[in-house]
Amino acid sequence: MELVIASNNQNKIKEIKAILGKYFSNITTLNDKNIHQEIPETGTTFLENALIKARTVNSLTGCAALGDDSGLVVHALDGTPGVYSARYSGTGDDFKNNEKLIENLKGIENRKAKFVSVITLAKPNGETFSFEGEILGEIVDNPRGNTGFGYDPHFYVEEYQKTLAELPELKNKISHRAKALEKLKRELKNILY
Ligand code: IMP
Repeated sequence: MELVIASNNQNKIKEIKAILGKYFSNITTLNDKNIHQEIPETGTTFLENALIKARTVNSLTGCAALGDDSGLVVHALDGTPGVYSARYSGTGDDFKNNEKLIENLKGIENRKAKFVSVITLAKPNGETFSFEGEILGEIVDNPRGNTGFGYDPHFYVEEYQKTLAELPELKNKISHRAKALEKLKRELKNILY
């Protein structure tokens, strides 16, 4: 069975292929399927956006499709930036997003945060299955590490005493996305057969 990933993000594609590769005869992306239209992320929750992505690509291709949505949830900022993580500063620029985050946390002691990922699989017949993963951490003012992307340099994981940007190998095992994908993997046989 072919699986189309509703993304062109190379980081995500690599991670998804590594975990789900052996369950599908072929894993392709939006580019491979010549889908160049933007899929609107109009949902107000990670689940809504993951469903929109999976359903849109399923109906455009007739194939099984995988949609995901993720973001940073900061406790003291009422759960923001949440589904707006990529566009937090209005620019889509990681550096500016991080700058705004640290500015908004000025003088706030509670730095608790989490990354959340929701992964939705749509079967060829349109039936959907969704899974959520989280990783807990805290936001540090000074960026550390130079791997990963997005908010990684400011996301400190107590257990390893490092930010996610300092944990290139481990990140793909402990991340919110890895956890959601592992949950999907565990259920995949039941879902597909
Ligand atoms: P999306 O899931 O592609 O819509 O991306 C959501 C946004 O959340 C990204 O652009 C990043 O700003 C942030 N984000 C999601 N996952 C991660 C991560 O693993 N590390 C750092 N930032 C992330």
